[in-house]
Amino acid sequence: MILEAKQISKSFQNGTRKLEVLRKLSLSVDKGEIVTIMGPSGSGKSTLLNILGTLDSATSGTVVICGKNIVHLGDKSLAELRNRHIGFVFQFHHLLPEFTALENVLIPAELMGAKDSAKSRAKELFEYVGLTKRMDHFPSQLSGGERLRVAVLRALINTPDIILTDEPTGNLDAANAERLLELFTNICRDFQQAMIITTHDRHVASIGSRTCRLENGTLLVIT
Ligand SMILES: Nc1ncnc2c1ncn2[C@@H]1O[C@H](COP(=O)(O)OP(=O)(O)O)[C@@H](O)[C@H]1O
Ligand SMILES: [Mg+2]
Repeated sequence: MILEAKQISKSFQNGTRKLEVLRKLSLSVDKGEIVTIMGPSGSGKSTLLNILGTLDSATSGTVVICGKNIVHLGDKSLAELRNRHIGFVFQFHHLLPEFTALENVLIPAELMGAKDSAKSRAKELFEYVGLTKRMDHFPSQLSGGERLRVAVLRALINTPDIILTDEPTGNLDAANAERLLELFTNICRDFQQAMIITTHDRHVASIGSRTCRLENGTLLVIT
């Protein structure tokens, strides 16, 4: 098991009102699985993904990633665990504008002190997504779809155990969205990559090997 979340609850205090977003939600993800989580805006998708990605903490419940219970880890250990085990792909690509595509992809490897050995892997990844000719371009010189594919490569560079992506197609036109979904499917097949994708779009959700719906703070398995 790559990721196991048990009985996750999360509430936010808004003034005197308590908003319960997640209620005893449980989820486990295995190698090579794509789990898609569908839900309308405000249902708690980002909240859940941030907790699973250790960017936020649950009010109660446990999250175990690659056998490690993250609940009691300090900030430094969490940052290291994230960099080693988790790849993030955000809706906004968050590429650094002053670095080339290749340099952006290498940043997580650099943080691990493995930049040199990662270079050949990065070049293979660029080839894998058909962006070899764009490696030395800056983000401003790439299209929206290309930027997001570069962001996917950055998420992959440290061979993470799981990739988390929050409404990845939200900013893309239909053709680029389709291309990104195809890339996700290929990555899972070719690298046995586990992935969690949140979306409000039924079509995006359909690429999951398992599809869930986030409703009333818990997950209902659809397929
Ligand atoms: N930091 C926060 N403080 C208070 N309320 C929050 C916070 N983050 C999210 N919420 C609320 O939690 C609910 C779920 O939000 P979110 O996880 O962003 O939903 P989704 O990603 O599905 O649109 C919303 O009602 C939102 O307003
Ligand atoms: Mg969201």
